[in-house]
Parts: sequence; structure tokens; C-alpha cells
Amino acid sequence: MIARKNMGRVSPFLLVLLAFGFFFATYNLLTLVMHKASKSTSEEWFDPVTKRPNEVRRESNAKFHVALTATDAPYSKWQCRIMYYWYKKMKDVPGSDMGGFTRVLHSGNPDSLMDEIPTVVVDPLPEGLDRGYIVLNRPWAFVQWLEKATIEEEYILMAEPDHIFVNPLPNLAHGDHPAAFPFFYIKPAENEKIVRKYYPEEKGPVNNVDPIGNSPVIIKKSILEKIAPTWMNVSLRMKDDPETDKAFGWVLEMYGYAIASALHGVRHILRKDFMLQPPWDVEVGKKFIIHYTYGCDYTMKGELTYGKIGEWRFDKRSYLQGPPPRNLSLPPPGVPESVVRLVKSVNEASANIPTWDTL
Ligand SMILES: *[C@@H]1O[C@H](CO)[C@@H](O)[C@H](O)[C@H]1NC(C)=O
Ligand SMILES: *[C@@H]1O[C@H](CO)[C@@H](O)[C@H](O)[C@H]1NC(C)=O
Repeated sequence: MIARKNMGRVSPFLLVLLAFGFFFATYNLLTLVMHKASKSTSEEWFDPVTKRPNEVRRESNAKFHVALTATDAPYSKWQCRIMYYWYKKMKDVPGSDMGGFTRVLHSGNPDSLMDEIPTVVVDPLPEGLDRGYIVLNRPWAFVQWLEKATIEEEYILMAEPDHIFVNPLPNLAHGDHPAAFPFFYIKPAENEKIVRKYYPEEKGPVNNVDPIGNSPVIIKKSILEKIAPTWMNVSLRMKDDPETDKAFGWVLEMYGYAIASALHGVRHILRKDFMLQPPWDVEVGKKFIIHYTYGCDYTMKGELTYGKIGEWRFDKRSYLQGPPPRNLSLPPPGVPESVVRLVKSVNEASANIPTWDTL
């Protein structure tokens, strides 16, 4: 009797509890189903963490600081000016998570762009240590900059002078997972013998080394602070080893970053849409950065003559001693939109930058 009485008294309470329990269980189930559904939409990038195609997740939404490593060579300078012009233009466009900007100038002395572009001067490696391979200075530049600068943003984009922002760039990183562009020519598994010299078996499978370089990468500042000294150390050891130096050549320092981040257990979200590389990528579309590292050579009929100097051409290496002239001629009809966009972007910047060809 007493028991039943008691049960009678508590049952409304239990019912409420059960109702809540049911509600939450249903709610969780529903969100799980919704999550699964959104996961299954096929996208063109890949998440190494979940091993699945990725839906658009913008958990962080936090601003990132743009860090541009550069030298004081005329060749670096004109590219930096164009890069900074497009940063300023895209920074406040809706969809952009860009914060501040710093040119990390690793040639040791102030140069003529100090007033035009926010710049922090850092030291180059001690004489001879880079063995003429200038980009070895990049990790050392980041180590110094992170140590001396006060950076407001929680995230950092590592950028290079030959990058042009063509769409507002959101923070592609997710929490502790940085975002990177996958380079087809960085193949850790195919170079296992060499990679293993720096990423020993006990650290994990060789595929933990992402097919990337340090740029473009958006990464939490606190994580880059851990990786940068290792990146420097690994790169120097690689350069010091003739077998590694020979095998990796000009991409050695990219492997240096990829291996250093793997040593810290960091995996990158690989975003093919981070960047496009004319002339191979023919459309800008929704991609974010034009990387103009390849020469663009065409006949006047608009046919690509890659490897042979074209009747029409744009190649950054034509301008080693100083900036390209203003108002470069546009490509002939039939040339891909990406190349047209590149030349128009260079022209727009040079037209609007005072003292373009006299600085
Ligand atoms: C790299 O680090 C190792 C140990 O962690 C050290 O023995 C070595 O001297 C460092 N190399 C360079 C080039 O800094
Ligand atoms: C740019 O060059 C074209 C010819 O290639 C010319 O028609 C045009 O007027 C020039 N524009 C400027 C602003 O100089």
C-alpha cells in the first residue's frame, strides 16, 4: 500500500523525466540524422581527420592574420605590392575572415616598402646556412616573428608574394585542424625511405605526412608556435643530407613543413579550392587565391605552348630585376579565364599603386 502510494506520488515526476528523456533522445537522433545527411553531400575537398568529404563547416569563424614572408629583392617587392593591394580590397568583403597583415621581411634590414606595407623585419639565417636556398629562411622567419610580434588574431594564414586574393577568404581551419592546399607533387608515401629519416616508424604511418607545404595554410597561432622550430630544424637537417637534398630539390622546405607538422600530430584539412594555379586551372570559380608560379605561354590563337616561349606570355620570372610595366597586354581570345583574370588583377594593382615603376 505504502509503496503504491509512494509510486502514485512520484509518477508525475517520473513522467516528466521520461518525457524530457524522450525529447532529448529524439532531438539527438534527429541532429545525428541531419548531420549524417549533410556529411553525405559530395564536395571537392577532403578531410584527413574524418577521412570523409567535408561539408562546409565554419566552426571557428575567427579572424586570421595574413603573414607574408618576403625578401627585399625587387622581384619579391613588386609581387608583395600586388598581394597587399588585393588583401586590402578583399579584407572587408562579406565572407572574409581576414584580420591584420604583416610582411615578414627576412632579409634583415628595412626596405623601401616599410611605409606602404605593414612589415616586421627579421634576420636571415646565419651566412651560408641556407646554401643559396633562400626559402630555408621561411621557418626561421616564422620562429622570430611569432616570438617578437603581438598578433591579435587567433589564426594565421601563411602566404607568399605570388598569391592574389580573388575571392573573400574565410577561415578554412576548424578548431585545432589547420587547412592547407594539397600539392600533387608532394608525395610522402612515394618517398618513404627519405621521409622515414625524419619521421621514424614509431611516429606512425607515412601517410600521416600531408601532401602540403607551409603555404597556403591557415593555422592556429598556438599550434604554429610549436611546429615552426621543428620545421626549421627538420628543413636544415634535410638540406644537410645530400640524399634528401637531391631527392627533394626545390620542394625540400615544403616537405620540411609537412613532416614537422606530422611530428606534432597535426593533420591538415586539404582544400583544393584554397588556390588555383594558371595555366593548369582554367577557372577561378569559387577558389580563393591565384598562385602565379607557372609561366603562361600562348600562341595568338590561344593555344598553350607550355615550356616554349609563347607569342603572348605572362611569367613572373620575366621580371626578376623590377616590376612588370603597367597595363600589360591581355591574352588573345581563347585563353582560359584564370589567365585573363590574373593579368587583369596585376594590371589593376599596378594602375592603382603610386610610384609603381619608380620605387
Ligand atoms: C635539431 O634537433 C636535434 C634534437 O632535437 C638537435 O640535436 C639538432 O642539433 C637540431 N638541428 C639543428 C640544425 O638545429
Ligand atoms: C592599355 O593598353 C591598351 C592597348 O593594349 C590601350 O588601348 C589602353 O588605352 C591602355 N590603357 C591605359 C590606361 O593606359
